[in-house]
Amino acid sequence: MRVVVENSLNEETTIHWHGVRVPNAMDGVPHLTQQPIDSGGSFVYKFDVPDAGTYWYHPHQRSYEQVGRGLCGALIVDEVKPIAVDRDVTWVLNDWRLQPNAQISDDFGDFMDVSHNGRVGNTVTVNGRILETFAVRSGERVRLRLINAANARIFGLEFHGHRPLAVAYDGQPVEPHEVPGNRVVLGPAMRIDLVIDMTGKPGERFTVIDTFYRGQEYRLLDLTYESAPLRGRPLDGSIALPANTQPEPDFTSAQRHDVTFGGGMMGGMMTAMLHGQSVDMRELMHNGMAWAINGVAASGHVMDPLLTLTRGRSYVLALNNDTAWHHPIHLHGHSFRVLTRNGRPARFREWQDTVLLAPRERAEIAFVADNPGDWMLHCHILEHQAGGMMGVIRVA
Ligand code: C2O
Ligand code: CU
Repeated sequence: MRVVVENSLNEETTIHWHGVRVPNAMDGVPHLTQQPIDSGGSFVYKFDVPDAGTYWYHPHQRSYEQVGRGLCGALIVDEVKPIAVDRDVTWVLNDWRLQPNAQISDDFGDFMDVSHNGRVGNTVTVNGRILETFAVRSGERVRLRLINAANARIFGLEFHGHRPLAVAYDGQPVEPHEVPGNRVVLGPAMRIDLVIDMTGKPGERFTVIDTFYRGQEYRLLDLTYESAPLRGRPLDGSIALPANTQPEPDFTSAQRHDVTFGGGMMGGMMTAMLHGQSVDMRELMHNGMAWAINGVAASGHVMDPLLTLTRGRSYVLALNNDTAWHHPIHLHGHSFRVLTRNGRPARFREWQDTVLLAPRERAEIAFVADNPGDWMLHCHILEHQAGGMMGVIRVA
């Protein structure tokens, strides 16, 4: 892939290819992997794309505002042999904080958002529009790729009257299975590929509802059966995607490390390191920050690594959410298997690049550190990232 990025913003930017295992110099992290692209400047990203799947791209410079204003795109890498479906559809889910006059509210980086659950907006869009309906046909098999491009909103979608099967998380194939509780939970930056057989009848209509935040449920859109059936019964044929190319971690030799996420309101964090000095929570907040990884609040992308890993070795990281909030934790440059959640084995050991940790949850992830360089590990609630929840993992 070769992309020429021209920066016509009035500020610096970069592009990060979220989830794609790119060489470090193409990762788009300002000052860490490249000089930011000046206003009026350009930069050429060029890399091989190793894995098929559903990815996305976005700036990594002041992303809480640049992404928050809509700079992002879907990146779909087709399988050499795709599964048979009638339609391959992508929904980029986004969330906006609009004022009554429909302008974007410009309170980016507001400290309430930084210290609580991020900039959750008031208007949800699908591919940039408020969709009322999505037309489907009886008997149709749809591959639906969902991308959560919101700064902070977590989605929990229920497809009334349908049984979506998950076939990939974060672009990586998984054994097809029904989503737990028949609800598709997607934190910021996460993706899921669903296969849905449209089993309704002409004239019927079914609601897709988002139930993630209790008391704030809303209808996303309706699936409508308007035209004649496509076929009498669903397609047969396998919906299992061919495997990608990540190396399998070696669990017998894997080295373990703990990574603890702290801070925020009601989290109990007392002090953190900021600019190399220990500060208390109040002083941290005076600096507009609220979060830390292993006790360090990051104020930029360049810092001492949290961990230095040996290239080619397998690692298990225990990710501890020591806060009262959800955090979608993203590692650059690698996909990892999720091994356990709160000590219980993850049923599918799914490959992901972003794992959603519930309040106080602990998850173990495993991967081979095969991609050399300095890689970000951060919360993808972009206000949390800006508020300190960011670290670097070095593979040397
Ligand atoms: Cu999608 Cu470090 O980001
Ligand atoms: Cu977070």
